[in-house]
Amino acid sequence: MSTFKEGLQDVVAATSSICFIDGDRGVLSYRGIDIHDLAEKSTFEEVCYLLWFGKLPRPAELSQLTEDLAKNRTVPKEVFALMRSLPKDANSMDLMRTAVSALGLYDPDQQAGDREANLRKAYRLTGQIAGIVAAIDRIRHGQDRVAPDATLNHAANFLQMLTGNKPSAAAEKAMDVALILHADHELNASTFAGRVTAATLSDIHSAVTSAIGTLKGPLHGGANIDVMRMLIEMGDVSKVRPWLKDALASKKKISGFGHRVYHTEDPRATHLRTMSKELCESSGNGKWFEMSRLIEETMKREKNLNANVDFYSATVYYTLGIAVDLFTPIFAVSRISGWTAHILEQLGNNRLIRPRAEYLGPKYPAPYVPMTER
Ligand SMILES: CC(C)(COP(=O)(O)OP(=O)(O)OC[C@H]1O[C@@H](n2cnc3c(N)ncnc32)[C@H](O)[C@@H]1OP(=O)(O)O)[C@@H](O)C(=O)NCCC(=O)NCCS
Repeated sequence: MSTFKEGLQDVVAATSSICFIDGDRGVLSYRGIDIHDLAEKSTFEEVCYLLWFGKLPRPAELSQLTEDLAKNRTVPKEVFALMRSLPKDANSMDLMRTAVSALGLYDPDQQAGDREANLRKAYRLTGQIAGIVAAIDRIRHGQDRVAPDATLNHAANFLQMLTGNKPSAAAEKAMDVALILHADHELNASTFAGRVTAATLSDIHSAVTSAIGTLKGPLHGGANIDVMRMLIEMGDVSKVRPWLKDALASKKKISGFGHRVYHTEDPRATHLRTMSKELCESSGNGKWFEMSRLIEETMKREKNLNANVDFYSATVYYTLGIAVDLFTPIFAVSRISGWTAHILEQLGNNRLIRPRAEYLGPKYPAPYVPMTER
């Protein structure tokens, strides 16, 4: 047996043609195309096509996918009814996990597991998860749900379903770029969880439910919520240094910093930093960006750690007026594209994922001591 590596660090656990990362050079690409090119020139819909089909779409292919995604946004009324019955103060990721799990019960392709059916489920899940996140917020505010609008792209439709208002061009663009940047990231923890579930030949909704449960944790997608809570707790630029000094002295992990794979700048953070600056300043909330920059400089100087994707996405979403506890669910609004691409890839050449553990327990054979003698 090969030797154990804690946290499976640097262990290659799958082959994949979806996402290439070079952690030393700060490179991220989807299907070989640099994330910077995609962030600047592409759209979320185009990235979905790229992830699912392995190539950039021609115009007719993109129109077809855009149409397919737009007409698959309806969340069954039974799932809304279920969501309305759940505790109003429940964790937003728990609500999302429950709702997405329930979607599987109403999916028209529930019994089918062939690639075509799984692709249809990927379209539906992508459209529906955005509706579920919007519904989480609207239900807790006692508001009616907003029907999906097939004339809007994924980003604009999501913001409209959330707020009830058509977003500005700037908000739509920021959300679209954020969705592109979060769409895939190789064998991150939630994608790995999804692939493990899919590899048992369970269904795609079960695999995505596993992924959502994994994304929730503060070491993974949950970090963007903690970043904003940290900024709010600090409250002001003058509090950044003393707050960080205390936190680092007590060995606290600072959310939004460090990465298992990147040893240099996370290329997604490069874009999100620029977006955060623009959005914070244009909305009269420049202090969040100023604080973020000071935190970033201090973390680099004191710990040689770089900001990751979750650090600047927090202030991007916050200045778009999104509730803090929706930040991690919004990660899933995008990552569903990567999760489903990986699940489809796994099923295309499947083998059960079943590693071994290095046994550290009592030496075998240990005696079975009768109850009366223990
Ligand atoms: C992302 C993360 C889980 C990677 O973890 P990992 O590869 O297992 O790395 P470790 O937790 O072993 O950290 C290695 C060292 O860096 C330190 N470190 C890593 N991230 C840190 C952070 N955010 N704040 C302070 N110290 C950190 C650790 O304390 C450790 O120091 P030590 O060797 O002196 O004990 C980790 O960096 C982290 O917890 N970050 C904060 C949560 C976060 O932003 N997650 C989103 C990731 S996209």
